[in-house]
Amino acid sequence: MTYTAKFRVWRGDEFAGELQDFAVEVSEGEVVLDVIHRIQATQASDLAVRWNCKAGKCGSCSAEINGMPKLMCMTRMNSFTVEEVVTVTPLRTFKVIRDLVTDVSFNYAKAMEVPSFKGPEGMALGEYRMTQEDVSRSQEFRKCIECFLCQDTCHVIRDHQDNKYAFAGPRLFIRTAELSMHPLDEIDRRDLAQEDLGLGYCNITKCCTEVCPEHIKITDNGIIPMKERVVSGKYDPLIWLGSKIGFRKSIEEDNGAIEGTPPVDEEMRKEGIYGYRPNEAAGLPASR
Ligand code: SF4
Ligand code: SF4
Ligand code: FES
Repeated sequence: MTYTAKFRVWRGDEFAGELQDFAVEVSEGEVVLDVIHRIQATQASDLAVRWNCKAGKCGSCSAEINGMPKLMCMTRMNSFTVEEVVTVTPLRTFKVIRDLVTDVSFNYAKAMEVPSFKGPEGMALGEYRMTQEDVSRSQEFRKCIECFLCQDTCHVIRDHQDNKYAFAGPRLFIRTAELSMHPLDEIDRRDLAQEDLGLGYCNITKCCTEVCPEHIKITDNGIIPMKERVVSGKYDPLIWLGSKIGFRKSIEEDNGAIEGTPPVDEEMRKEGIYGYRPNEAAGLPASR
């Protein structure tokens, strides 16, 4: 069955833009990304859209479809009625480059603030065997495709851009949890999570979990256990004492990063990846 669908697609750049209407043919079995490509091929050859795999695995085609953060390649057209207008807009939380393409470098800059895994020195390859339980715990977080839909939907930065300085977002919280839960990781990540990544800003609304295309239980399995670790570290007198006599790793005084990790890139900050003009000024739809 083919039919003509009504699409509204946001066109513009960082400074201005508007929703543009398209009537476009849809065939059975197609997804939103197919229709966007058809618009590009037949009506708007300069329409900017980012995609790679068309299989829900590269995380490139993130957008907001009728106000919901989704992957365009995994949103089937038969999830809408034939009469329904399908509105496609760029991720609201990030600066628009052009049309549906946003600048997600905020997430990469924040990722650089998370120290990588640091195992015990001198341990030979294959010397340690992980239990399946430990493998499974972090395996869930390894499914992340970095689509940043969770970052887009999190109200802490979605509605308050100035929080981007102090808040890394759910994607980086599960990265931190993944490393923290590794039995051989030697870095104490609790202060990092709380003080530098802004874990305390999260009020466990679970909106991030709802939009994750990999069905990662971001809040229940990542954020809440990290919060529990922070609380036990701060208020358990034995852990507190342990941290005072040397279990805790040294913290660099200059920018708060853990020793041996890349410093926060101040140049990237200055270049404005944390900055953002109000979406409303660019004519994007209001927050859902
Ligand atoms: S649970 Fe926390 S990180 Fe996730 S959307 Fe809510 S406030 Fe943001
Ligand atoms: S946690 Fe889920 S929603 Fe967030 S970036 Fe990874 S795959 Fe996307
Ligand atoms: S194109 Fe790769 S996830 Fe959609």
